[in-house]
Amino acid sequence: MLIRNLSIVGAGYVGLCTAVGFASKNYKVIIVESNVQKVNSVNNAVPPFYEPGLEELLKKVVEEKNLKCTSDYEEAILNSQITFITVGTPSLPDGNIDLQYIKSASRKIGEALAKKKEYHLVVVKSTVTPSTTNDVVKVLIEKHSKKKCGSHFGLCINPEFLVEGSALNGVLNPDRIIIGEYDKKSGDLLESLYKDFYGKNIPPTIRTNLQNAELIKYANNAFLAMKVSYINQIANLCQRIPDADVEVVAKGIGLDKRIGPLFLKAGLGWGGSCFPKDLQALLKFSRSKGTALPLTEATIRVNEIQPFKAINLAENLLGTLKAKKVAILGLAFKPETDDMREAVSIKIVEELLRRKAKISVYDPAALENARKIFGNKIKYCKTISECISDAECAIIVTEWSEFGKLKPEDFTSKMKNPILIDGRRIYNPQKFSSALKYVAVGLGSENVELEPDETVWINPALAVNIIIEDRKRILLVKRKFEPFKGLWSLPGGYVEYGENVEETLKREAKEECGLDVKPSKIVGVYSNTKRHPWKHVIAICYAAKKVRRQSRAESREEKACFFNINQIPKKLAFDHAKMIKDYLKILK
Ligand code: UGA
Repeated sequence: MLIRNLSIVGAGYVGLCTAVGFASKNYKVIIVESNVQKVNSVNNAVPPFYEPGLEELLKKVVEEKNLKCTSDYEEAILNSQITFITVGTPSLPDGNIDLQYIKSASRKIGEALAKKKEYHLVVVKSTVTPSTTNDVVKVLIEKHSKKKCGSHFGLCINPEFLVEGSALNGVLNPDRIIIGEYDKKSGDLLESLYKDFYGKNIPPTIRTNLQNAELIKYANNAFLAMKVSYINQIANLCQRIPDADVEVVAKGIGLDKRIGPLFLKAGLGWGGSCFPKDLQALLKFSRSKGTALPLTEATIRVNEIQPFKAINLAENLLGTLKAKKVAILGLAFKPETDDMREAVSIKIVEELLRRKAKISVYDPAALENARKIFGNKIKYCKTISECISDAECAIIVTEWSEFGKLKPEDFTSKMKNPILIDGRRIYNPQKFSSALKYVAVGLGSENVELEPDETVWINPALAVNIIIEDRKRILLVKRKFEPFKGLWSLPGGYVEYGENVEETLKREAKEECGLDVKPSKIVGVYSNTKRHPWKHVIAICYAAKKVRRQSRAESREEKACFFNINQIPKKLAFDHAKMIKDYLKILK
């Protein structure tokens, strides 16, 4: 069957770029979108987000009548042979994947399919955890269409690997095509579409079952994020070795063909709409299957504190940041996008606000989106020059190419006592260091004395009295861990801001007490923001009441009363007295 008519559910990033890609090669594409504003925007050839090249191509395909957008599922399904599902799969507050949009799309596709006589292929492109296509999408479509998968309709999962900023190229020239198929007929049909679309330039294609294809997408993103966190860790080490430079180290290891040079750019961390949510979903999924992914956990942990390296450097050189003007260059989660989702800049700006710095920001594309996040708490500048004027410190947060063109004089002529923090390694260290105070992520310097990066773990029962006072002593306490008499006490500890509390406690319980438990009760969370403001040290007391030491193994699960970790406020001020009181309450 020659496929010429497609429908795509969801006019988001993946949906619209895929739709425009197919339409540009004369396929007839109908997008189904529930947001009326987006429907109008697409039909008026105005992309609802910024992506290089998209506006021109959208205009062309709309004018040529190869692409239209509607809210009517029936119109889309009845006039197409294949439907791609490209709705979002965001995170639930606990990190699990939120399937509400997948479910509603499946239901509506099913209802529309009920009215269709011909065979139809449904292809999931959204990122979904293994078995979702079979257990959720298939089941809902069958239920609402009253038709049978494999005979009346086909089903595939065909993950996308589009990269924001070059998404159209990703549609037109992908590295590979992954087809997870419910049955051979479904896979054959989808492959025939791609053979027709790419002609003899069809990329390497893997056909497999649904589960493998679903997992390939997650494993792919987790590996890429791990590569970045890995080099960021090496950068943090370089920072402490005079004259070491992560850029050179990355180049050296990247030439090993087994490693490769890409995704080894050290910086202030990764963000965006995909890595953070996908890694969390993968972790939750793997836990639900009874296995841990320690490398993915560490990938996230490294990334959570990486943005604060910029603040640490600024504070090191400027002393207090209170009332100092700090210029932030770049806000988007990466260049060539206006996307602020999970952008590193958010953590940096919020932290600077807490320290009462005066913040001015500039970004070539993301200012409007940034305004929705920071409101009038910061100054938005239309030019680089306005942003850095009179600033005492400038931080490169996103590596937009226009920043790379700046010369040392551009900073020295405008800034007050200029300090430049290159968070994305875009400048030549020799050239800049000789002209101004230049520090950079992963560039070892004798002028900067960094505090140790610490995450220490303690037994809260013993730590109550000494907590926060002496970090070395706390480390000793951990080694001498001993549960209280008559009280089964699990270790708690210091968790760096943003760390995965639940996971850490579970691991500690295992290591310290040999117990497999879910956190049962968190007595308190306290953040010592005064002494180590940038670290947001959180102390957690964690205990189960009146469980005799001897019998703790049998009774721990039943006695557990679960405290929702997501409800822990992240910015609590440290209150030593309250902490002791809370702790004593459970000792009673
Ligand atoms: C990512 C994947 O690269 C795509 O293959 C995947 O399709 C997409 O997620 C998705 O799941 O839909 P994207 O989020 O557009 O694409 O962004 P990337 O270009 O991968 O960058 C992610 C983050 O890593 C950015 O914050 C970037 O600044 C950072 N990064 C990347 C580094 O800090 N260093 C590097 O060397 C590379």
